[in-house]
Amino acid sequence: MKKHIAVFVSGSGSNFQSIIDGVNNKEINAEIMLCVASKAGTLGEQRAIDNGIATTVMDKSLGLENEFGRVAEMLTRLNVDYIILAGFLTILPFSFVRKFKNKIINIHPSLIPKFSGDGFYGMRVHEAVITAGETESGCTVHFVDEGIDTGDIIDKAIVAVLPSDTPETLQQRVLKEEHRLLPKVVKMLCD
Ligand code: GAR
Repeated sequence: MKKHIAVFVSGSGSNFQSIIDGVNNKEINAEIMLCVASKAGTLGEQRAIDNGIATTVMDKSLGLENEFGRVAEMLTRLNVDYIILAGFLTILPFSFVRKFKNKIINIHPSLIPKFSGDGFYGMRVHEAVITAGETESGCTVHFVDEGIDTGDIIDKAIVAVLPSDTPETLQQRVLKEEHRLLPKVVKMLCD
């Protein structure tokens, strides 16, 4: 039986697209029941609309607890098995994490525990990796617990940092690996 999944996005949603592609080509045995966008007008939200995926945009003016409560009700009604944070940059309230314990996964653009936790997201991660003179970086998929990027690690991919790299070139190379790693993990969970 197909698993029910929900994907949470904040930005361009290229990782979301890798999941849409995996579902469409039947690699991932799942149905995307809902896309949750942290704000309106993102490319991530547009990808959901273009693919006929039900979408809800968060209204943070109602308070995070309230909004996540509303989303939680939708997810429960849709019998969602897994929640995938695909570039979702809002920190989840504890109540939400506890409600969906062992069901939420996140992709992070570094080799956790390095360059992870509060303040490390998106391009900031790659800037910090270059500044620190690291010779390797990568991406990590992990379960979400009450901490920031502290949950159990499911899988990682390593990418070499080249002497000529800028944060932008490194981001591109890591993102390419993210698009391979995330659908691979989602497939594994859904199988
Ligand atoms: C990705 O690199 C993802 O790993 C990162 O945001 C980017 C979103 O790109 N997530 C985090 O930094 C979470 N801490 P996308 O919207 O094109 O998938």
